[in-house]
Amino acid sequence: MSRIIKGGRVIDPANGIDRVCDLEIDKGRIVRTGRGLSGERVVDANGLWVLPGLIDMHVHLREPGYEYKETIETGSRAAAAGGFTAVACMANTDPVNDNGSVTDFIVSQARRYAAVRIYPIGAMTEGLKGEQLAEIGEMKTRGVVALSDDGTTAMNAEVMRRGMEYARTFGLPVIAHCDDLNLSRKGVVHEGAASMRLGLPGIPDAAEACIVARDILLAELTGAALHVAHVSSRRSVELIRGAKERGVAVTAEVTPHHLTLTDAALLEYEYDTNLKVNPPLRTEADRQSLIQGLCDGTLDAVASDHAPHNIAEKEVEFEKAAFGMIGLETSLSLLLRLVHAGTLTPAQLVQVMAVAPSRILGVPGGTLGKGADADVALVDPERVFSVDAETLLSRSRNTPFGGWELKGKAVCTLHRGKTVYADREWKKQHKVSS
Ligand code: DOR
Repeated sequence: MSRIIKGGRVIDPANGIDRVCDLEIDKGRIVRTGRGLSGERVVDANGLWVLPGLIDMHVHLREPGYEYKETIETGSRAAAAGGFTAVACMANTDPVNDNGSVTDFIVSQARRYAAVRIYPIGAMTEGLKGEQLAEIGEMKTRGVVALSDDGTTAMNAEVMRRGMEYARTFGLPVIAHCDDLNLSRKGVVHEGAASMRLGLPGIPDAAEACIVARDILLAELTGAALHVAHVSSRRSVELIRGAKERGVAVTAEVTPHHLTLTDAALLEYEYDTNLKVNPPLRTEADRQSLIQGLCDGTLDAVASDHAPHNIAEKEVEFEKAAFGMIGLETSLSLLLRLVHAGTLTPAQLVQVMAVAPSRILGVPGGTLGKGADADVALVDPERVFSVDAETLLSRSRNTPFGGWELKGKAVCTLHRGKTVYADREWKKQHKVSS
C-alpha cells in the first residue's frame, strides 16, 4: 500500500532538493518526490520538514552489561523519538565489544528488539586497554562499521599506529577519543576560570589537542581514515582544519552539548553532575570555534555521545559522578536553535546529522533518492516544548536540559516505511498507522 507524505518541505541535500512537494513510499522504499502525488494513504505534512532519517554515529547503548542504564531496545526507541533511523553504538560495554561473539550478540539483539538500525562499533584494542589489538577481522565479518576505544585513549602511539594499519586493511574508519590521560588524569571539568572558582580539578584543552595532533600524524603515516570524536576545543578545530587543508583523510564530529553549553553552566547550575562530560564543556571561545567549524565544514558531523547513567551514578559528589549525558531525544532540537538563529541552514543540518554520518561510516541513508529505504523523519520546526526528563524514552534521565524550552522536534519517524515513532499531540491530529 503506497503512502504519500503530502505537502511538506522536502530537504534532501544529497539530491540537491529543498522544496515543498510530496514524497511517495511503497514497500518500505522511496518511490519518488513530486507535486500532486496520490496514493492509498496520505499523511498531511503541511508545515513540516521531510528529512532523510537522522543518523547518530556516536551512542552508548550499554548492552551487554549495563542494561540498568539503557538497552538496545530502549536506546533505539529514544533514537526514533529524536528523528534518528540509525545509530552506531560504542564498544565500552561489559563484556567489551572486542570480538566477534559480542558483535554477534549486539547484531542479534538489534534484529529482535531495535526500532531503528543499529551499527556496532568494535573496540580497537582488547578490553579497551590500549595494549593488544582486538579481533578486528572477526568483528568486521560480523558487522562492525568502525573501530574505537571511545571512553579512553590508546596512549601508546605504536598501538594506535598498528590499529590504524589494520583498520585501513579492513576498510574501517578509526574513531578517536582524543584525551591525553596523563594530562587529564584527575580532572573533572575544563581547566580554566570556572574550575578555579569551583575548586574542581581541571582538564586542559591541550589534553585533547595533543592526541588530535598525534592521531592526525598517524593517519598521515598510515593512510587510515581517522574520525575525531566529540571535538570540544578551538585548538582541536584548528588542527583538524589544517590537516584537511593538507589533504589528510580526517573527519570530525561535535556534540549538541558542546555547541550549546560552556563551563560557565557549572557555576549557573551549581555543580549539576549532568554537566560532567568527557571531554568537558569548555569556554565560550571554544564553543564559537566549534560552531564556526561546523558551518565551514571543518567538523563534518553532529553526534550526541548519548551516555546514559543511572541516578546513583550521578547523584553523588561531582568528582565521583560518572561522565556523560543522554542526548538522543534533544540533539535535533538543540541543533535547530542554530537554524532558528540563522547560523546553520536546514540543508546544513541534514548534511551534518544524516548525510555525513552515513558517508563516514559507509552505511546506507542520508538520502530520499528513488529506491532508497524509506528512512524518513518528519520534523515540526516551530513546535515549542519543554524538555521533561521524566518522560524521555531513554532508560536514564541524566540530561542537563530538563526544563529547557526548545523549538522544533521530530513528530514522526519512519524506518523502512514503518512508523517507529509518532508524537502524541501530532498523532491526535493525524490518524497515523504503521
Ligand atoms: O562523557 C562521556 N561518557 N564521554 C565518553 O567518552 C564516554 C561516555 C560514557 O561511556 O559514559
